Amino acid sequence: MAPESFDAVDVIRTKRDGGELSHAQIDWIIDAYTRGQVGDEQMAALNMAIFLNGMTRAEIARWTQAMIDSGETMSFATLSKPTTDKHSTGGVGDKITLPLGPLVSAFGVAVPQLSGRGLGHTGGTLDKLEAIPGWQADVPNDRMMQILEDSGAVVAAAGAGLAPADKKLYALRDITSTVDSIPLIASSIMSKKIAEGTAALVLDVKVGSGAFMKDLDTARELARTMVDLGTDAGVNTRALITDMTTPLGRCIGNSLEVRESVEVLAGGGPADIIELTCELARNMLDLAGVHDADVEAALKDGRAMDSWKKMIAAQGGDPDAPLPVAPHTHDVLAEHDGYLTELDALAVGVGSWRLGAGRARKEDPVQATAGIELHAVLGDKVTRGQKLMTLHTETPERFDRALESVLPGITIGETAPAARTLIHDRIS
Ligand code: URA
Repeated sequence: MAPESFDAVDVIRTKRDGGELSHAQIDWIIDAYTRGQVGDEQMAALNMAIFLNGMTRAEIARWTQAMIDSGETMSFATLSKPTTDKHSTGGVGDKITLPLGPLVSAFGVAVPQLSGRGLGHTGGTLDKLEAIPGWQADVPNDRMMQILEDSGAVVAAAGAGLAPADKKLYALRDITSTVDSIPLIASSIMSKKIAEGTAALVLDVKVGSGAFMKDLDTARELARTMVDLGTDAGVNTRALITDMTTPLGRCIGNSLEVRESVEVLAGGGPADIIELTCELARNMLDLAGVHDADVEAALKDGRAMDSWKKMIAAQGGDPDAPLPVAPHTHDVLAEHDGYLTELDALAVGVGSWRLGAGRARKEDPVQATAGIELHAVLGDKVTRGQKLMTLHTETPERFDRALESVLPGITIGETAPAARTLIHDRIS
């Protein structure tokens, strides 16, 4: 066996002592970790040193490139249409990908979305779509190209070959409390998006209790870091910074979120979902060279719904089949009159997760029907005894634990709160 070029202990010490890793050190450690030559305990120590001491822009760029180089890259250059994609840093009730892909593809642009499953309190797009009878997340590359050419939008599981270093690293970060580090999040997300081969990318960076980034300054820093990484790699990248202090829309949970997405595609649905879907769609289309698209009209006149039906059917799903419904429900009622001044995203997200909508370990199954349906949202006037939300689950013994999370996240006050700002900033 050829000798290793570096010693992991030296690399860890460099970062532990606040130094800058060389390109050669980064290339080596990512490669050696992927090959299993550097162990989890050493990588965990390095992650913690990065978490505590940060990385320079040059280090983040090289770390990202090394993760891209750990696996295969895709290319959509042979398609007859431009490609554009969106990535959200994850939130509660964030089902925007579902109406967004079909909406954008209705304008003749291809949307190849390689997605993941939910971990912790934020839901995963694949888990949501799997609530649709027959729908399959695994799509071989040649079939993906064909669907993109024919119907324009695909949501598929990212193959094991795409940025394998990130897959190992992300699992390790998840169990060592090193997820919420800007260099590590930015390189993780952007390595996958750059390897995926999209020409244009809009990032939805969430800020608030239900997001990784709890305040605007750190959300801006994450957005700026990711936009720079994308731009430097030749991907036309922009970011929106959007609110995640309270859930998006009125449905949280897999099947419930599909139901709400279909309402939006049918020209209805909650105002915040419509606003964010349309803003992201306009940006994705703009980056792909389609300017001033009337995306609201495409939601109203059925074009986006036609694309949705094609997208679901192309992956084996039946878009007209009834969605599964939970056998057990529990209503939460308002304790007194007033205004809903707080409906905390994290409390609701954890509640939905405890009902069975999410998983604690990546191999756990999820319940398609578990989740929370909101009957009142932030700022609404409510009266004593009114239904605020309905909890759904297949396993009613979960209600108590879910309520322990949800109830402290609800505040009813005497005066209406300030109107919510959904889109805080735009970074390009
Ligand atoms: N999503 C990712 O893919 N990686 C992170 O580090 C955080 C969110």
